[in-house]
Amino acid sequence: MNVIAQPFQRALAAVADRVANPARVSDPDKLRETVAGKTVLVTGASYGIGEATARTMAAAGATVLVVARSAEKLEDLAAAINAGGGRAVAYPTDLTDEAAVGALTKQITEDHGPLDIVVSNAGKSLRRSLHDQYDRPHDFQRTIAINYLGPIWLLLGLLPAMRERGAGHIVNVSSVGVRVVPGPQWGAYQASKGAFDRWLRSVAPELHADGVDVTSVYFALVRTRMIAPTPILGRLPGMSPDEAAEAIAKAVIERARTNEPPWVWPAELASVLLAGPAERAARLWHRRFFADSEAREAHS
Ligand SMILES: NC(=O)c1ccc[n+]([C@@H]2O[C@H](COP(=O)([O-])OP(=O)(O)OC[C@H]3O[C@@H](n4cnc5c(N)ncnc54)[C@H](OP(=O)(O)O)[C@@H]3O)[C@@H](O)[C@H]2O)c1
Repeated sequence: MNVIAQPFQRALAAVADRVANPARVSDPDKLRETVAGKTVLVTGASYGIGEATARTMAAAGATVLVVARSAEKLEDLAAAINAGGGRAVAYPTDLTDEAAVGALTKQITEDHGPLDIVVSNAGKSLRRSLHDQYDRPHDFQRTIAINYLGPIWLLLGLLPAMRERGAGHIVNVSSVGVRVVPGPQWGAYQASKGAFDRWLRSVAPELHADGVDVTSVYFALVRTRMIAPTPILGRLPGMSPDEAAEAIAKAVIERARTNEPPWVWPAELASVLLAGPAERAARLWHRRFFADSEAREAHS
């Protein structure tokens, strides 16, 4: 029984993975051809997707510049990469501090010149019901600060040198939530991620004219600390951080406009053509899974 069931389950899991998640490239040679000798900045590199991405890029021969607030974690990561024969430099920075981001971009440009690739990945999720947010305006401030303003300040500091050289690639780590019917309770997160997604897409034609490409990678679920406060997400098909790094590797190699799960296009179309039923479905989803007292707990 098991002999038949196991391959069937594996095949089913592979299909679910292919449908649920962005495509990935795990060919180290292709990545090496693209990034060896290049300088790659990864924000949010102390944990999760960013940490895995920094390791993946360094293993392929890139010099990685790693940014986040957790200085010790970043120093350990850089030390481990350097000890393994790679090249990494830690730049601990709070990206919500405008002056600190200005100092960071100046320092990085002095140290490394124009960057080849910037992976804008640092971010914060937050899930909280509206009725628990009436006295929490800071929920909106902190999500907009790290998911929208910080990444813009970073690019405002880095892009002039990249555009002047006429080359470069910006990879934005975004969420499928900005492409489909907005899910209840994630409003502050989705609005702030959507704001940056929209801003970056709006400047992409200007950047492209100067040789700088933009790719947005839309993740659905990646098993990092970010999803831990919502246990139901752990039961849905998701990626490991290393697999997410391979989706970012695909973006870096191919420089396509987007990399998203295949279900996003039809869902996006349906969210326009079938807006009423789609929003009714979102209401049902909310009632079924979140409209209980436990669901009012929020991401920290
Ligand atoms: N996990 C998912 O299912 C999922 C799905 C779609 C999109 N995403 C996106 O993927 C990206 C990475 O998320 P993750 O899942 O890897 O989460 P994570 O493990 O919590 O990592 C978030 C990273 O952002 C950094 N960060 C947060 N606030 C910062 C600040 N003020 N200044 C500098 N760095 C800051 C954190 O470092 P410090 O705390 O050390 O500062 C950490 O390295 C986010 O942009 C998220 O929106 C995730």
